[in-house]
Amino acid sequence: MYTGEMLASMKKVEAARGANTVLEPARMTAAEKDALLETYHPDYKKSEFAALRVGVNRGDAVPHELAALLEGKSRVDPDEIDLSRTDYECDVLVIGGGGAGSSAAIEADCAGMKTMIVTKLRIGDANTMMAEGGIQAADKPNDSPAIHYLDAFGGGHFAAKPELLYKLVNEAPDAILWLNGLGVEFDKAPDGTMITTHGGGTSRKRMHAARDYTGAEIMRTLRDEVLNRGIPVIDFTAAIELILDGDGRCAGAVLLNMETGEKKIARAKCVILATGGAGRLHYQGFPTSNHYGATADGLILGYRAGAKLLYADTLQYHPTGAAYPEQIFGALVTEKVRSLGAKLVNAKGEVFMHPLETRDVTAASIIRECTDRQNGVMTADGVGVWLDTPMIEIKGGEGTILSRIPAMHRMFAQYGIDIRVEPILVYPTLHYQNGGLDITPDGMTAVENLYAAGEVVGGIHGRNRLMGNSLLDVIVFGRNAGRHAAEKAKSVTPGRPTLAHVTAFAKEAEEAGVHAEVPSPKLLPTYSHGNPDFQRKAF
Ligand code: FUM
Repeated sequence: MYTGEMLASMKKVEAARGANTVLEPARMTAAEKDALLETYHPDYKKSEFAALRVGVNRGDAVPHELAALLEGKSRVDPDEIDLSRTDYECDVLVIGGGGAGSSAAIEADCAGMKTMIVTKLRIGDANTMMAEGGIQAADKPNDSPAIHYLDAFGGGHFAAKPELLYKLVNEAPDAILWLNGLGVEFDKAPDGTMITTHGGGTSRKRMHAARDYTGAEIMRTLRDEVLNRGIPVIDFTAAIELILDGDGRCAGAVLLNMETGEKKIARAKCVILATGGAGRLHYQGFPTSNHYGATADGLILGYRAGAKLLYADTLQYHPTGAAYPEQIFGALVTEKVRSLGAKLVNAKGEVFMHPLETRDVTAASIIRECTDRQNGVMTADGVGVWLDTPMIEIKGGEGTILSRIPAMHRMFAQYGIDIRVEPILVYPTLHYQNGGLDITPDGMTAVENLYAAGEVVGGIHGRNRLMGNSLLDVIVFGRNAGRHAAEKAKSVTPGRPTLAHVTAFAKEAEEAGVHAEVPSPKLLPTYSHGNPDFQRKAF
């Protein structure tokens, strides 16, 4: 199991624990953070990005892996698709069965619109289900949406679209009430008040949680609501191209049955893209905390139809992905572990930073510790730093780990590691796409009648997102898109369906000298030998 070197380092951590528990390293200054990010954060590695040559964001830099897909080969030959047939018809078509898609569908259904969800896996196979630490909302007497706004705006490097962030923070308390009313079992004190904690970059304790499986609890509840309402869910069916009408308005999608390979036509008055993130593209060779289907599909579909991207060059590397054991390499170790008192410690047993800096700063700091400073702990095939989990029980008392973060305990216990008595090894893992489709506050993209919600959207958080603001945004902007799409659908009469935009995009690519070979959207990652999407890089 552990190498001799790892065990020796663990002894140093144990020896320093008493002092480290009371040690509170200073937060970095703005100048220190900027210098750190510039040198160590993966977003700043220019060689890992390419300028787009096709589409509305031509000239903008995006990760190479994403560029290949955005400029990739459509899975649809417009000449071979019979658009005169209709396999599914609805008012509001929701593409994606995660938290945002489910919230959108519930609201559109509440508004009386004929609503349908299509999802390439099953409803709930989504990053929402994988979310652990919590959901932010300023609903305590010492807090306010204005303070929440300032925390998130600063944490996002002042780049968030103000009108989107304003909506996020102001509608947060209602999102919690809505979820609570639907049946989400939030952690509560005996008097019924919600228990809240800090996350990185928060100035108030506003993280609401259900232990450390908050996303699973929320997704379970939303899925029940969708099914109880009788909203049709077409599973194992991917959207592979959007359909527009002659006026350039979105009017449906071409679907692919993932089991039979059949193509189907779905017509709709409005479409909501809620396809989630891109972790399975493994940018820069990073492992990921994301679910199996996170392959940026919505970005591709929206982009080819003419929707604009915002901040597609900025990704979130969660500072604490599991670095050991190999079986859980890259899996999320929730930030709540640090909120509860665990500190980041290097191979020498030194606490090298404040545990609750924002995520980009924390990730960059860990990378610096493991590279230039050579203070990382080498494993058989990688490197990491310690997250000293036993500190949690020193600070919060015996039993804190089992009562507050039972999923973390279980994840490591499977491999013989008891996080109550031994520290764990962590290293950044690809967690979230900060950028995505640009939307207006009503959730619409640059393509009329095409809405977007959840991780596929860019601009809500700026260039870095705070913990707990993603579960929040899937609820706030999912509901928002559902309501607005439903309202819009009431006055829409779609024109003649067309895939002319697919043909035009391919022509533009050809003229730009892009010879697209990669089938796009990707739909699922490949992990087979010979064609692996993810190869561990030496750190
Ligand atoms: O660390 C976490 O529990 C992740 C939360 C988030 O991305 O919001």
